[in-house]
Amino acid sequence: MPATTLPARERAQLTCTDIRVERGGHTVLSGVEMTVSPRSRWGVVGENGRGKSTLLHVLAGTLIPDAGTVRRVGTLALAEQEMPTADDRTVGDVIDEHLADARAALQRLDAAAVALAGEPLGTGEPLGAGEQLRAERDYAEALEAAQALEAWDADRRIDIALEGLGAVDDRTRPLTTLSVGQRYRVRLACLLAAEYDFLLLDEPTNHLDRAALEYLTARLRAHPGGVVVVSHDRALLTDVATTVLDLDPTRDGTPRVYGGGFTGYREGREAERSQWEAQYEQQQTEHLRLKQALSEAQNRLVSGWRPDKGTGKHQRATRAGALARSVHRRQEDLERHKVTAPVPPLRFAMPDLPARPGGVVLLRADGVAVAGRLHQPTTLSVKSGDRLTVTGPNGAGKSTLLSVLAGRLAPTAGEVRRAGTVRLRLLGQESSPATGRRARDLYEAHIAQLVTAGLLNEREVVGLTALGLLTSREANKPVAELSMGQQRRLDLACALAARPHVLLLDEPTNHLSIALVDELTDALIATDAAIVLATHDRQMQRDLRDWPRLALFPHRELIRNHSENSR
Ligand SMILES: Nc1ncnc2c1ncn2[C@@H]1O[C@H](COP(=O)(O)OP(=O)(O)OP(=O)(O)O)[C@@H](O)[C@H]1O
Ligand SMILES: [Mg+2]
Repeated sequence: MPATTLPARERAQLTCTDIRVERGGHTVLSGVEMTVSPRSRWGVVGENGRGKSTLLHVLAGTLIPDAGTVRRVGTLALAEQEMPTADDRTVGDVIDEHLADARAALQRLDAAAVALAGEPLGTGEPLGAGEQLRAERDYAEALEAAQALEAWDADRRIDIALEGLGAVDDRTRPLTTLSVGQRYRVRLACLLAAEYDFLLLDEPTNHLDRAALEYLTARLRAHPGGVVVVSHDRALLTDVATTVLDLDPTRDGTPRVYGGGFTGYREGREAERSQWEAQYEQQQTEHLRLKQALSEAQNRLVSGWRPDKGTGKHQRATRAGALARSVHRRQEDLERHKVTAPVPPLRFAMPDLPARPGGVVLLRADGVAVAGRLHQPTTLSVKSGDRLTVTGPNGAGKSTLLSVLAGRLAPTAGEVRRAGTVRLRLLGQESSPATGRRARDLYEAHIAQLVTAGLLNEREVVGLTALGLLTSREANKPVAELSMGQQRRLDLACALAARPHVLLLDEPTNHLSIALVDELTDALIATDAAIVLATHDRQMQRDLRDWPRLALFPHRELIRNHSENSR
């Protein structure tokens, strides 16, 4: 009979102490401390590449830290930031894996019930007193396990979660026939329904529409266990996180923990940064004073060796010794005095994107549709500097429409026309599989291609690090060693480097850090280029609520009873 792992419920605890992790020769995490208890909800934030995913793996036990300890009491599940594309399981297989304990508990209960009611196999005799006692004990234990797992209700809970997230509920569907987002939702539904003591979620909002986001938010708030969620989604963090762990650099190199939810984090971080800057100012003043003191002492030492008029030889030598000691001491003072400059955050520098004045239509779609993917014949036109947000629930065809507009996919009905020499760029929903090529090389090859093809003028070329999306060290790394957010930053850099007149953005906030999402929003408002945007990011939607909208609806059979467009 398969063994079952029981949840610890109120006794559950997940703690990590003084965690340090090195990756690629650099310290990624240092001094991380967390205590996650039932009903506590942690948000983990920090710039892309700070080690958020790494930390979740440490908590889950899939990565052994270089130093520190992790203590786990209870059951846990980790939803990784990405799902493998090659996966030969079906939807039913994923469900079975998450419900394995519940299923095993029910099996064990059935077997215990049979043993209790029956007679020992083949004897024809009723149970002896000892056997009866053992059977009763087994039954009681099995019953307790099934109750702890709420095993009878497990399948129903899965169905509710699948529906809540708008996930495919056909158990026979192979995962390979589902989109990334569809697969992600199936897995998330299983995680939510299996009632683990701890849920560790890495960027869970990337593939969710408004209805699914609201369902996830409600489920996380109601989760009786502990939650650790890594997210750039400001709306989710506001609604869910009670405590925030910030992995961005601090004065003493130790990550900060803020109470008071996401607002507490925003305010606390601001205060922390100002204090750091003020301290830095003071340190610099002190550093300057020590430097001056050293230089004066050195000067005195030099003049001390000069034979002063009327000074005896013996006197000069004594004084020189004291001066030399003084210089030495001041040198030590200066070396001991540390100046910890606040690490300047990367600042996104949106390049100037050109306008095409004169009211020319740059892009026009007439009744475009794609069989099975974009049901609704769609007509739109984009002039220089126009703004458009494309909305619609999962499966409505937003990505399909953007691909058609970008010329990457041919419509099965209607047509798309682009003005001659219009530069059009699409930032796709997900990054392509990572390669071993250095980020900088990939970027430069992309630019060279555009210049050679006459699509970009030499004068318009902008260096990768000048965009403020990757540091020089990150730009020198192979793409496969970049974090998901860093890979996405590289995609954004390549799209912007082409200086497009029309920028098509498909879920641009996926995987990006909170700071960059804020900066990107401001840049999109200010740019001269035309923007067509599909986003589920509720904060970005609120920030760009004045933009014209195009609402897409899924095919009649796919319409769920909670379409976001009806809101
Ligand atoms: N295979 C690898 N080899 C070397 N370094 C790696 C590897 N994978 C990741 N790293 C580095 O480890 C650091 C932490 O990566 P991690 O994925 O934990 O960051 P993250 O905070 O989750 O980032 P994101 O917000 O982009 O998801 C990054 O600087 C990254 O470049
Ligand atoms: Mg990550």
